[in-house]
Amino acid sequence: MLDLDKLAHMLPPRVRNALDAQIEALGVLTEIRDPRVLASLAPSGVRGLLLHRGKQGVPTRIRASHYAHFDWTYPTDFPEMRMLYDRAKSGQWDSASLPWSTDVDPMNPEIPIAPDYFLDFSALEGMGVTLDARERLQLSHSIIAWMLSQFLHGEQGALFAAAQVTEAVQFFDGKLYGATQVMDEGRHVEVFHRYVTEKLGKLYQINDNLFVIIDALMSDGRWDMKFLGMQIMVEGLALGAFGTIYRGTKEPLLRQLLKMVIQDEARHVHYGVLALREHITKSLSEKERCEREDWAFEVALLMRNRFLMYELYEEWFEGRITRAQWRELVLGSPGLREFRDVMFTRLMPNLREIGLLSPRIVPHYERAELMKYSAGAAANELTGEQMISDLDRVA
Ligand SMILES: [Fe+2]
Ligand SMILES: [Fe+2]
Repeated sequence: MLDLDKLAHMLPPRVRNALDAQIEALGVLTEIRDPRVLASLAPSGVRGLLLHRGKQGVPTRIRASHYAHFDWTYPTDFPEMRMLYDRAKSGQWDSASLPWSTDVDPMNPEIPIAPDYFLDFSALEGMGVTLDARERLQLSHSIIAWMLSQFLHGEQGALFAAAQVTEAVQFFDGKLYGATQVMDEGRHVEVFHRYVTEKLGKLYQINDNLFVIIDALMSDGRWDMKFLGMQIMVEGLALGAFGTIYRGTKEPLLRQLLKMVIQDEARHVHYGVLALREHITKSLSEKERCEREDWAFEVALLMRNRFLMYELYEEWFEGRITRAQWRELVLGSPGLREFRDVMFTRLMPNLREIGLLSPRIVPHYERAELMKYSAGAAANELTGEQMISDLDRVA
């Protein structure tokens, strides 16, 4: 295998920094060991990481290739999904009921929107960059705007993926439930867009790594891969991110907004666990199950290390510190560590529950230090209210 790190270190520092993004992008692809997983992720990787398709203006078109699954007998085929559908109907809420009149001021140090531990300012000083109090607030504003912009883009992906899954899924009760998720995701797009534009006044483009995952699951024709990508992986990521900000923000409108969204997302992951557990443990061959297991592992690694906010580096620190220093700063920050903890606490029990944590893959997760998160409750055993009270308890 190509040793990109070794190759990079032979280059002069300035050239290395200039090529760092390409070297890192190739690193993502060369790290994938399973050829079937590489074949399914590589085209999206090239589109997202090398061609930056998500940043090439409007529109971005991704070709869908799934079958719409019709059933003219309208069976009642999954009572637990039907119950979830009933719960989703009564759990609908109106975005207009959020306290939009709240005055949100990102420059007010009394009510910080982002927790101040997202970046380690003393480590930044150690790299020769000192920010005064005003600059720190401005940077915090950029960080929260970046994060909420990524939530918004993720919600757009979720809206379209939920619509695709509603067409493609084989359970009729799942289709009815799916209709409620499409509505939920539409509302999420609306509230995040309104918050980002009206309250923060700053919208960032989609992060390349997020684009890769969305591109991969939108273009994969297999409905269970869409489920795995969106309902388990991306929603797990979202719950981690929403939970971290919900816990850390002092801004009441954002806190209320996230509280409502988290309760919807808890149902979405529950649905994903129900559908995939049935399908993976009863319908797939062992070979097909292994492919899903490897795919989930590679995406988990992508999620663990790759959301490094380079868009903020380019805006704030290009020319002042290197990309490698920025990476070190972000990976070492307490905020990102907490984000990873909450995300994998949600994700790993779900992978266990749907049958994608067999003894064959466990040593790989152990090496990635992710097995420690696998013992908790899966989404089918947790309600949104319980998730919120867990987050409140440790706040
Ligand atoms: Fe959502
Ligand atoms: Fe969702």
